Amino acid sequence: MKKKIIWGVLLAVILAAVVGTYMYRHRFDKYELSREEQSVAIQAISKDSRFLVAYFSWPSPDYPDLDATSGASNVVKDGQLYGNTEYMARILSQKLQAPLFRIETKDDYPTEPRALLDATKVENNSQARPELKEKVENFSDYDVICVGYPLWWYDMPMAIYSFLESYDFSGKHIVLFTTHGGNRFCRTIPAVRKMFPQANVIQGPSVFDREMENAEAIIEKWLKDNNLGK
Ligand SMILES: Cc1cc2nc3c(=O)[nH]c(=O)nc-3n(C[C@H](O)[C@H](O)[C@H](O)COP(=O)(O)O)c2cc1C
Repeated sequence: MKKKIIWGVLLAVILAAVVGTYMYRHRFDKYELSREEQSVAIQAISKDSRFLVAYFSWPSPDYPDLDATSGASNVVKDGQLYGNTEYMARILSQKLQAPLFRIETKDDYPTEPRALLDATKVENNSQARPELKEKVENFSDYDVICVGYPLWWYDMPMAIYSFLESYDFSGKHIVLFTTHGGNRFCRTIPAVRKMFPQANVIQGPSVFDREMENAEAIIEKWLKDNNLGK
């Protein structure tokens, strides 16, 4: 009898741990687009649309010896160091045959991980709007703007807010894509929808930073599933 109780308690603990972990991992899923919402959003893009791929990325150069693989925040391919989001953006731009625009802040962020975390936390807490180096030329020429970013503090980097607030996205299609350490899009899709009620916000591909070697396959699948790409 005593054994049975111990086994029962043990099983209940294991079950609670498994369910708890699953719920914790998927706690932001409800902020992503449903299959139907995504389908409607994608169908609104016309075949002759002009695409732009804009991204922000801050590669940590802490793992320079890795090759064709990924560190926490970079990809080294053919001897070249890319930020994770930069790597994704390059693939997307190539597959969509779209120009690439790098969103850069006037002031650099720290490269040392602890200092980067501290500086970005301060920025996030104060909802800062860092000044950007350049603006997209002829923004009005583009119909679909793919906007890529790493998740920072469960949010978009403040530089992305600076970028988004610099243009009129009414009537545009915005494809969001992310790299992340587990939180995918967090609440960023509803945040952008709220900022631009007159825009069509689409959920693009998202890659976990530990799985950057799968980025190309994930992007290709996303393009195929959404009937995009040349
Ligand atoms: C300052 C900072 C904050 C981060 N916050 C989160 C987060 O809240 N959730 C998450 O899933 N990943 C988080 N990450 C992980 C990054 O999103 C991830 O490593 C990303 O791929 C980095 O992309 P990049 O190389 O293009 O800058 C954070 C990373 C940094 C440096």
